Amino acid sequence: MTSKSLRNIIIHEAELRDILSLLIFFISLDRDPETRLFYRAYRCDGFRSLWCFLTLIYKLTFKRLRKRFLMVLALREREIVGLCHIDMVRDAIGHFGIVVKPSFRGRGLGKLLAKRALLMIKALHVKHIFLQVDADNSRAIKLYKSLGFRICGYSKDYRYKTNEYVKCYLMKLTL
Ligand SMILES: CC(C)(COP(=O)(O)OP(=O)(O)OC[C@H]1O[C@@H](n2cnc3c(N)ncnc32)[C@H](O)[C@@H]1OP(=O)(O)O)[C@@H](O)C(=O)NCCC(=O)NCCS
Repeated sequence: MTSKSLRNIIIHEAELRDILSLLIFFISLDRDPETRLFYRAYRCDGFRSLWCFLTLIYKLTFKRLRKRFLMVLALREREIVGLCHIDMVRDAIGHFGIVVKPSFRGRGLGKLLAKRALLMIKALHVKHIFLQVDADNSRAIKLYKSLGFRICGYSKDYRYKTNEYVKCYLMKLTL
């Protein structure tokens, strides 16, 4: 990865006015088999698009205003190419999610987005961040470990994938 490959990428916090770009982003991600396998926070196909749309409106207005939700976007020429979000599940505890457009992966964008989101959430006095990741998602696990997340539990037989059950790890970062 070179910093050159991230030229022209703008990072900013998501607002309600990003809603249509977000929907387009999630619909495009849903067409990618690897992403469908690993990223489930905002599934956006068929009837679920409406649910996704309403959830995003709710979070980007009420939850964002109440500082219960943070979403950081990476944009190139006004197109969303990656995002990282943290939902507050309880006081001082957040739940983390991240996704990067397939053609932008492996350039350091995921790490950049995650670092920015973690820095911003720290300012909200969040103490612990949790996430769930499939045990066969080695790329994401490597990213999380490099950010300081540690495996603190797992759920056996979490998901059935191509003829076998896959474990899911619970990872934790203390800020
Ligand atoms: C996980 C994801 C967000 C990572 O984004 P990314 O932009 O590719 O990540 P980066 O380029 O910043 O790389 C982060 C780390 O992953 C590692 N990595 C990058 N490409 C890799 C690859 N092909 N295989 C294994 N590890 C890889 C790198 O070592 C890097 O760590 P380092 O910089 O300390 O060496 C992206 O792959 C993605 O969107 N995947 C699908 C959705 C998903 O799995 N989300 C997580 C659900 S829990």
